[in-house]
Amino acid sequence: MEPILSIRDLVKVYGKETRALNGITLDFNPGEFIVVIGPSGAGKSTFIRCINRLLDPTEGEIVFDGQHMEKIKGRKLREKRSKIGMIFQHYNLVSRTNVIKNVLHGQLSNTPLYKSLLGLYSHEDKQEAVELLKKVGLEDQMYKRADALSGGQMQRVGICRALLQRPKILLADEPIASLDPVSSNIVMQQLHSISMEKQLTCVVNLHQVDYAKKYASRIIGIKKGTVVFDGSPSQLTDSIVQEIYEGKETQMRHQNENEITSSFATEDRQITGAER
Ligand SMILES: Nc1ncnc2c1ncn2[C@@H]1O[C@H](COP(=O)(O)OP(=O)(O)OP(=O)(O)O)[C@@H](O)[C@H]1O
Ligand SMILES: [Mg+2]
Repeated sequence: MEPILSIRDLVKVYGKETRALNGITLDFNPGEFIVVIGPSGAGKSTFIRCINRLLDPTEGEIVFDGQHMEKIKGRKLREKRSKIGMIFQHYNLVSRTNVIKNVLHGQLSNTPLYKSLLGLYSHEDKQEAVELLKKVGLEDQMYKRADALSGGQMQRVGICRALLQRPKILLADEPIASLDPVSSNIVMQQLHSISMEKQLTCVVNLHQVDYAKKYASRIIGIKKGTVVFDGSPSQLTDSIVQEIYEGKETQMRHQNENEITSSFATEDRQITGAER
């Protein structure tokens, strides 16, 4: 199988001496659900931002869907970028706009400006947006303002928006860092099942090792800008985790399985955004 994303000797240096990425080489295949773990400052965000060229890599190659991302700019870059769905820690929704319009924003890069200004989305896009919202259980919230949703619900809207772009890969930087365990599980579970269903490659940065083990098909451990682990959840032993987080173990934000599953049912009580 051809990898959808092929990264060779990726280096990112900030300023003169912060070597955030120190030569990363990885291939990602269609359908892989990859979770990147590592302590704070390991380079996880830098890695994701280099892939979609929010950051320019210092050295190395990023081949996405047959195209050298590090070499392109302008329209070509925007075109390729529109095939990369992004999911953000703080959701990045337009708070005064309703849910369905937020989802339709995912198609903005493929909609002529005058049409988007007039709100003229295609029938097909609208149908797809509704389908996606149904999948994440938000069909009843479609006409609510985004800022009236709970954090977990906002992130599920964020997922729908990314999917409406019809991406070939999904990138998510700490998508559950601002969420409670119940919402975190719902978001991860939906992200996982929809990615599988659509055979998308998903790359998710997470602090929490337990969520990585629960949802990933493949885990990448990064430490000081270098890949120190690449394997299945079952291969990620406690001692390897220890090594990755050496001295920074508290950052794993470990929760035991009980804590993760026990508080189900709070999600629907948080409808009015009171948690923010
Ligand atoms: N804009 C920047 N300018 C200078 N240095 C930066 C910048 N962004 C990140 N760094 C440095 O690069 C290294 C990697 O940072 P990065 O944010 O990629 O780590 P991370 O693994 O995402 O951490 P966290 O888990 O805290 O989000 C760190 O040493 C950080 O201080
Ligand atoms: Mg980060």
